[in-house]
Formats: sequence, structure tokens, C-alpha cells
Amino acid sequence: MTLVDTHAHLTAAEFDDDQEAVIERARQAGVERIVVVGFDLPTSRQAVALAEQHRGLGAAIGIHPNDAQHLGAEEKTALAKLAANPAVVAIGETGLDFYRQRAPREKQLEAFRWHLDLASERGLPVIVHDRDAHDDTLSALKEHAAGRRIRGVMHCFSGSEAFLEEVLALGMYISLGGPLTYPNARGPVEIARRVPLEALLLETDCPWLTPAPHRGKRNEPAYVQLVARRVAEVRGQPEAEVAAATSANARALFRMA
Ligand code: NI
Repeated sequence: MTLVDTHAHLTAAEFDDDQEAVIERARQAGVERIVVVGFDLPTSRQAVALAEQHRGLGAAIGIHPNDAQHLGAEEKTALAKLAANPAVVAIGETGLDFYRQRAPREKQLEAFRWHLDLASERGLPVIVHDRDAHDDTLSALKEHAAGRRIRGVMHCFSGSEAFLEEVLALGMYISLGGPLTYPNARGPVEIARRVPLEALLLETDCPWLTPAPHRGKRNEPAYVQLVARRVAEVRGQPEAEVAAATSANARALFRMA
């Protein structure tokens, strides 16, 4: 049984001391592919370097909505150039975060649209972060889609069932992570039951959102198996089936051989 962690921040400072050991532990746990996600320009560059060094790793490059105010002309030029690197498998993470709202909404929207355009130009999928911004996220995606389908994923999906139907209709994949394993995870459990298996991806969002029973400690890609187990449990489906389908979905979306 093999798995893909479609959202890992392996370039976060939390992994400075044991990045190699963490990647090795993931392999031992059957996590054969990992999408290493940048959240600013330096971590995007580091994600590309890491993916170039390791088989089975791909890089996602972008500026997180919480840092959207730092997306200036210089960063745009650098990211557009970096996007041509063959190790890059996605653009992001981008999107809208009206929960923390560290960057002004207008700036977040402008940055989100810019990332969507870059993804289209490069023929790459987009990794979307949406926190308390479902309506604006959906409007921006619909406007960008202009009637076509979008190649991308709603990472750590947290919306309603109605919102789920809307983003599925746009062609988006749905990714679930650690929060699904928490005791009061009613929303994510409902989503895990409802999302068609052919649209489902798994992730850790490590070093954050650590799944039970490791909650409170640092998260890492090996723990994506705990998410797979919980998805299988709530769907009443064999874990091997969930692993096979979500891995095939991830390979198709990110074009990771
Ligand atoms: Ni993330």
C-alpha cells in the first residue's frame, strides 16, 4: 500500500534538524510521493531544490495568502521564472484567509488571481487555501474558470456540503488532512463520506495539523497513513482502496510519474 502526501511544508524551520530522516520515515511508511509546498519566495526556492534532490518529491511554489502583501513585481518575476523548473508540479499555496487576515483582503484577492493566471499559463494545477473565505474563493475560481474546468485542489477542505458541490463542479480535487481525525470533526467527516473517491486527495499540511493520536507534536508526511485510515473508517471502505485511489488521483493531478 502506497500513499501520497499532497501538502507538506518540509522546508519549514521545524524540519531544519532532521529533514532527511523525516523523508526516509515517510518512505518506510509507504509515502512514496510528497508535494513540498512553499509559502513564500525563499521556501518556494527551497522546495524546488529539495524536489530536485529526491526522487518522489515535487515542488509547489507560491506566496501564502497570509503573506500576500509581499507579492511584489520582483517576487512575481522570480516565481514566474521558477515555475519553468521541471521539479515544479503545482502553483501554491495561494487562496484567501479571512480568518487570520494578516494581509488586506484586496491584496489577497489580487495575489490569488495572479497565482491562478500563472498556473494556467504554465499548465500547472493550483493548490488553494481557503479559510473563512468560501464565497470569495468560489467567485474568484468561477471567474477564472470562465466556464472551463480548473486543475487544482482545495487543500485542507473546510467548507459545507453545498460548497463542496460547487468546487467539485469546477473540476477541483478535495484534500483532507489531520482535522478529520479529531474527536469533534463533524464537518470533515461528512465531507469525507460525501466526496467522490475519484476527487479525493490526502495530505498532512505538516508540520501543522498533526493527526490523532500524535496531536500536539510536530506533524510529518509519514502520518498521512493516519488520515487514510480515518477516511477508510468513515467511508466504510478498505484502506487499501482509499490509498490506491487517492494515490492515483495525486499522480494524475500533479503529473508525478
Ligand atoms: Ni499549507
